[in-house]
Amino acid sequence: MNTITTLTEFILKEERRYKNATGSFTLLLTHIENAAKIIASHIKRTGLVDILGKTGAKNVYYEDVQKLDEFSNKLLVDLLSESGQVGYLASEELPEAIEVDKKGQYNIFFDPLDGSSNIDTNISIGTIFSIYHNDGNLLKPGKKQVASGYIIYGSSVMFVYTFGNGVNGFTLDPGIGSFLLSRPNIKIPDGKTIYSINEGYYNMYESSTRKYLDTIKKEENITARYVGSMVADIHRTLIKGGIFLYPRYTKKPNGHIRLMFEINPLAFIIGQAGGMAVSDKKNPLDITPQKLEQRAPIVMGSKNEVEKYLEYC
Ligand code: AHG
Ligand code: MN
Ligand code: MN
Repeated sequence: MNTITTLTEFILKEERRYKNATGSFTLLLTHIENAAKIIASHIKRTGLVDILGKTGAKNVYYEDVQKLDEFSNKLLVDLLSESGQVGYLASEELPEAIEVDKKGQYNIFFDPLDGSSNIDTNISIGTIFSIYHNDGNLLKPGKKQVASGYIIYGSSVMFVYTFGNGVNGFTLDPGIGSFLLSRPNIKIPDGKTIYSINEGYYNMYESSTRKYLDTIKKEENITARYVGSMVADIHRTLIKGGIFLYPRYTKKPNGHIRLMFEINPLAFIIGQAGGMAVSDKKNPLDITPQKLEQRAPIVMGSKNEVEKYLEYC
């Protein structure tokens, strides 16, 4: 009996559950999958092909753009525009959204390369995407997402996504160039020992955050893990349980992580896996964005850990 399920087979099976499905979503996800494979193959050759180092340009947040950032962004813009399924697309690397085809079925937001500061150090990085129905309004709350997901370029390349009925993970088999179902129906375990935050900002956090950190560090066998690529920190949290925190601090009074490009897609995944996400004690998926590049403080992970954190807010 064939126990192998490719991402394409899985999406098609999902599509058959919706009688009026047109194949549009499948086509869109297939274009994302193709982009992921091409980015993955480039990342594997980082340092060999000329995609290392900075381009000298600055992105909209006035941060140094790494070449792989640019390559990934351009690839996703091109492939998604050619898919025929996109109304508007917005990238963390672009100053505003691009109108591809007003009648396109879906709007897509993406962070083409998450964890850019880690590109040259062989540390896991990722791509994040968030999909909405196209009704012309781009500033919708995250609860209106149709689907979201990420690709993590780590010791293996994984494609993890939700369509609103659970979370499934697929591992790229480089030998056949296909993503194969490797982690069906992912459920986040209860948190026990892992917290993930940039402690370098400890003195700049609010007192409630510092009090929370001081207390949990007194617990038995508590462990700190912080990669600096949100996709990697969230993927570990999804698989092992725990809590990821990127609170506001004096230098980033509105938080650092982007609502549309990072928080909404990853909070949708965490929630679908039975976890919890909060931004200033609210569900971030309820926030109606005022602008595409809006940032927000974010805490997400195992429900029991996030509820414990809320006691300090
Ligand atoms: P990006 O590379 O897309 O800008 O995202 C980086 C984000 C996120 O991935 C990570 O959790 C966070 O920045 C790390 O920020 P600090 O270096 O301030 O900890
Ligand atoms: Mn990012
Ligand atoms: Mn990025």
